[in-house]
Amino acid sequence: MSPDEQIKKLREQINYHLYRYHVLDSPVISDAQYDALYQELLKLEAANPELVTPDSPTQRAGAEPLDAFEKVTHPAPVLSLSNAFDVEELYAWRKRIGRLLPEDTKLDYVVEPKIDGLSVLLTYRDGHFNLGATRGNGTVGEDITANLLTMYALPKQLPVDPASSFAPPPYLVVRGEAFFPLDKFEELNQKRLVEGEPLYMNPRNTAAGSLRQLDPKKTAERPLTLYCYDIIVWEGEGVPEKQWDRLSYLRELGFPVSADVAYCPDLECVAELYGTWIEKRNEIKYEVDGIVIKINDQPLAQSLGFVGKDPRGAIAMKFPAQEMTTKLLDVAVNVGRTGIIAPNAILEPVEIGGVVVKNATLHNYDEIERKDIRIGDTVLVKRAGDVIPYIIGPVTDVRDGSEKAINPPTHCPFCGTEVFRPPGEVAIYCVNAACPEQLVRRVEYFVGRSAMDIDNFGSQTAALLIEEGLIKEVADIYFLQRQDLLELEGFQEKKVDNLLNGIDASKAQPATRVLTAMGIRFVGGVVAGLLLDALGSIDRIASASLEELEEIEGIGPETAAAVIAWFQQPTSQKLLEKLRLARLNFAVEDQESQSVAFEGMTFVITGTLPGMTRSEAKSFIESHGGKVTGSVSRRTSYLLAGEAAGSKLDKANELGIPVIDEASLLQLAEEG
Ligand code: IVH
Repeated sequence: MSPDEQIKKLREQINYHLYRYHVLDSPVISDAQYDALYQELLKLEAANPELVTPDSPTQRAGAEPLDAFEKVTHPAPVLSLSNAFDVEELYAWRKRIGRLLPEDTKLDYVVEPKIDGLSVLLTYRDGHFNLGATRGNGTVGEDITANLLTMYALPKQLPVDPASSFAPPPYLVVRGEAFFPLDKFEELNQKRLVEGEPLYMNPRNTAAGSLRQLDPKKTAERPLTLYCYDIIVWEGEGVPEKQWDRLSYLRELGFPVSADVAYCPDLECVAELYGTWIEKRNEIKYEVDGIVIKINDQPLAQSLGFVGKDPRGAIAMKFPAQEMTTKLLDVAVNVGRTGIIAPNAILEPVEIGGVVVKNATLHNYDEIERKDIRIGDTVLVKRAGDVIPYIIGPVTDVRDGSEKAINPPTHCPFCGTEVFRPPGEVAIYCVNAACPEQLVRRVEYFVGRSAMDIDNFGSQTAALLIEEGLIKEVADIYFLQRQDLLELEGFQEKKVDNLLNGIDASKAQPATRVLTAMGIRFVGGVVAGLLLDALGSIDRIASASLEELEEIEGIGPETAAAVIAWFQQPTSQKLLEKLRLARLNFAVEDQESQSVAFEGMTFVITGTLPGMTRSEAKSFIESHGGKVTGSVSRRTSYLLAGEAAGSKLDKANELGIPVIDEASLLQLAEEG
């Protein structure tokens, strides 16, 4: 294809997706996939400037407004933002604008969350709200005043205090983002679930759909809210020149402004914040897809002008994608360590946030039926933080009729036992205590990183040892015979030694890990720690009463009941005895007291470490009083680097930040 044809095709695609997103509020691809198309077009246009036309999607924002609302022409163009996807691109932006500024100009910045909602323009005359509009295509939007008036967060009248000299300008146009708070969104879907209505896909489209209801009463039923971040035009005095002061000014006038905004004296600070934001993004009560970096000095920012629809004086730093669409190839049946039979999606591999995702959970068969997910569907997959990737739902528009329904199994595919569905539960179970697949899962969990963390003991080894009859119950791990192992295919001396050494070493693991490994419902590492801190030993926990357990800070009634139920089972008693025989730690040792070796130090972690995952390294550092951030700056004390370390290593070397490996980290902690 010639560049001309390529550009034409990309524009058609982008326009279609813009229409789906902005007009219909029903995108068929993820934001990241859209971004990729857009970036490709930008690149092609940059290489062929003669092919740039005013109607290119790069030259305008959004799509045409719906006919049903009155159209309003904005008093000034409502701009968009260009995107940076990593710290390098942030520095490149600074370099680009640096060329337009006198040499040695020092800039400071305001960092704001980039809320994934709907951009709105709010006009006030003499302090009175009299027009609210969507962005539309950036020049003309839709009049949604009636709908905005239903929103609690929107100030309808600004304070005009005759006693103070402080009064809003007679004409003021404020820009903000309307959105659906995440907890409210969950609630709404929960309600729809109970009422048997189809679930909404995501908060952003639900917010947009709610605001563009022709009937404001419907909007009023939705708990939409708002954060404001910009003043577009005004007449009169009082609007500060610095963005940071503008945000305070907006707050003083009664506008809702996010509390998560920050002032940054330099770009290092911005880069560091980007890292912290990525880590905490899933704890925020609204959906954020990045941060916005604005030059604090607004007149200066304005003077830089814009490229297409994007001002030069601000940039968005997008977070790694968390949602992508891909094809559902098949559904596998998983049996968990508690016997739960769960459907698992086999996907056409897709990269989400730097990780290739091939599987995702489908939760349970009820959920599949409710969402009407079929084999062969294009599905939207979400991978957020440490959560296992899951399927949000199918994109039904692109079905071609070849999709196949998914039926729940009637029998355990591993042992053939008929499945059981407890009344009132959505899950189905394999209730055969001797089901080999359940044992594989229990062993996997027991030896896994969050439990006994036994080296050289993977899933395949677990499955093989069970198949060969060497492990009949979990505790058999500690009674494996060297001779038996040597007889297995592929198990030479070295491999057997490694396995046995790993098992032996795990006997020194602290009691919290032993308790975690037992696999009691609701008892992960944190809860195990709480129980042991309070009661001191596994034996004391085993003999505790329900009341005693419930009194422990952080232990709820459900967990307490699960602990009691577990210790009452004869199989649990047998496991305890065998583990005791293996001389595992059942009591808390005194030496586990808190260390402060890393107090006041900030670490950045990069690459693959030999002996721990990054999240384990993070916990380790934090448990010694240190802090972990996402990107290297002058404030970083150490870069902890493993194999295949990338740009962070270069940055650390550039700034002269000491680089250490895992072994040195452990040594540092020990030496205090
Ligand atoms: S500033 C010239 N600030 O992100 C100013 N936008 O991708 C341009 N957004 O259309 C916008 N939070 O709808 C700005 N704190 C924030 C924002 C924000 C969300 C949205 C806005 C904009 C889009 C650009």
